[in-house]
Amino acid sequence: MAANWSPDSWRARDARQLPDYPDAAALAAAERELSSYPPLVFAGEARALRADLAEVAAGRGFLLQGGDCAESFAEFHPNNIRDTFRVLLQMAVVLTYASKLPVVKLGRMAGQFAKPRSTATEEVEGRALPAYRGDIVNDQAFDASGRMPDPRRMVRAYSQAAATLNLLRAFASGGYANLHQVHAWMLDDMGRGPWAERYRDVADRIGDALGFMAACGINPDTVPQLKATAFYTSHEALLLPYEQALTRQDSLTGDWYDTSAHFLWVGDRTRFAGSAHVEYLRGVGNPIGVKCGPSLEPDALLRLLDMLDPGREPGRVTLIARFGHDRVERELPPLVRAVKREGRPVVWSCDPMHGNTVKSAGGYKTRPFDRILSEVRGFFEVHRAEGTHGGGIHAEMTGQNVTECTGGAVDVTEQSLGDRYHTHCDPRLNAAQSLELAFLLAEMLNAEMQERERARRAAA
Ligand code: TRP
Ligand code: MN
Repeated sequence: MAANWSPDSWRARDARQLPDYPDAAALAAAERELSSYPPLVFAGEARALRADLAEVAAGRGFLLQGGDCAESFAEFHPNNIRDTFRVLLQMAVVLTYASKLPVVKLGRMAGQFAKPRSTATEEVEGRALPAYRGDIVNDQAFDASGRMPDPRRMVRAYSQAAATLNLLRAFASGGYANLHQVHAWMLDDMGRGPWAERYRDVADRIGDALGFMAACGINPDTVPQLKATAFYTSHEALLLPYEQALTRQDSLTGDWYDTSAHFLWVGDRTRFAGSAHVEYLRGVGNPIGVKCGPSLEPDALLRLLDMLDPGREPGRVTLIARFGHDRVERELPPLVRAVKREGRPVVWSCDPMHGNTVKSAGGYKTRPFDRILSEVRGFFEVHRAEGTHGGGIHAEMTGQNVTECTGGAVDVTEQSLGDRYHTHCDPRLNAAQSLELAFLLAEMLNAEMQERERARRAAA
């Protein structure tokens, strides 16, 4: 257990990106209420995820993390949850098949509500109001009462997270994740895409493998692993009053866990030395992520790892690199080398979204798909050159057919961005773009595995 830590020890540190609640009594009441509610996840599940991530850190697995930039109260609907889950599973099948490695499935779901902002206020036509910080804090609409941070929103977010998680658990274990079914969706969706030809082969080979196994008596009825999957949840640990209220001591081990999700990460803006967010995360036993951007020096990263993972436990820390397509190959290697030199057992994951945001001619925040792919390629190239494992991908995506990122085989143009631009924050990959990303990732992972095999043969 971390020394000199308590669930509220972050309060004595530099806490940035937190809202100014105007009513302290209302805030305290909401915190009290949440503290008495059931945990959303169980400590044993967080430990299971940590063990799965330890396998990824050792090069024996791959991490797939994805979901909305920000969940919202308005888009809370079973179909949205279902469709994002469904695309994540389709991606997972493709990645599992190509890499021959187990894929850890981690949603940015059931709690991804709070957003960091570059300025505390937003100004429109000379009028300044508090910035929108996510539905868990205030309302996106630009009006004085809606923008006032309201602690009751934390309670509503908790309920939405609980209902979302409940449905995800049902999908994951109740038959919806059946591998034969997921493959059938893939064939279905591909029939509609103009890029079907390129990937038909992979889909067919997955079908062959399932058919061969079925003929041997290995089917969802005889082998339950084909019917169910483990699906975990994650969000940025940003709104610390909420996270603290859901922090509980595990009765089995006595350790503290943040029971609002299985996995929490600290963002690029709140991971500085002396930060309240780092202080909070160092004391919880969950696996945690650290966003690594261009401003992070290797020494600062090593100091962060000393804080967050003094025991050097494999799977404890996932480093999520977000540099931008034109910087990743120059700026990621110093970090990878420093971490490798220190023998730190981390998972390296690639966030190709946040460093590649641009404004379209029509004023939309968008991300060109080819830049996203180019950052992914650069990330894998760095790990190939350094002899380390490119262990994961972190994507902002949705199962809906939105038009928020430009490009992809089903080409979204700058002109069509306005057609279905629904995000509450950053632009997301749509279902077709997500699947296309998975196929391209699969090619890269397949190459990594073949290279490993060649090296093994040469050594034998
Ligand atoms: N249980 C295995 C796994 O989760 C196989 C599996 C079942 C699976 N359904 C799946 C894999 C859906 C990917 C997607 O890996
Ligand atoms: Mn985002």
